[in-house]
Amino acid sequence: MKLTVNGETHEVDVEEDMPLLWVLRDELGITGPKYGCGLARCGSCTVHIDGLAVRSCSIRAGQVNGDVTTIEALGAPDALHAVQEAWIETQVAQCGYCQSGQIMSAAAFLTINPDPSDEEIDHAMSANLCRCGTYPRIRKAVRLAAAKLKEA
Ligand code: FES
Ligand code: FES
Repeated sequence: MKLTVNGETHEVDVEEDMPLLWVLRDELGITGPKYGCGLARCGSCTVHIDGLAVRSCSIRAGQVNGDVTTIEALGAPDALHAVQEAWIETQVAQCGYCQSGQIMSAAAFLTINPDPSDEEIDHAMSANLCRCGTYPRIRKAVRLAAAKLKEA
């Protein structure tokens, strides 16, 4: 089957019911999305499909109907996405494991709600779990990213 990931179309020889996360990591070597729970409950595997945040552990390769973007292509090394910039400036990450999923969720959320309140940020990000408890810095970074996007 054909999958477009990070702007490149790949022909992948996998079963239709293989989770997208497996295809990304094991078939395409794209390791930004992480395996956490495998049950759509932690968010560490979050990618975008046509700009919407999707749990890649829980969507099957055969169900993908759109362009997949992983954190590898959210921004470029010399032109980071505003959310990535905000994450660095706020020094959000602790162990880092959950963070690509957090960033992908935040980026998708800000396209839907560019001017969120703290409550809306907390609600939107509550399905992305962080064992290190970086939630206060995540909230601060999402606020900063929203401000950066407004200025852009
Ligand atoms: S690994 Fe996909 S939501 Fe936890
Ligand atoms: S930074 Fe360690 S799990 Fe979130």
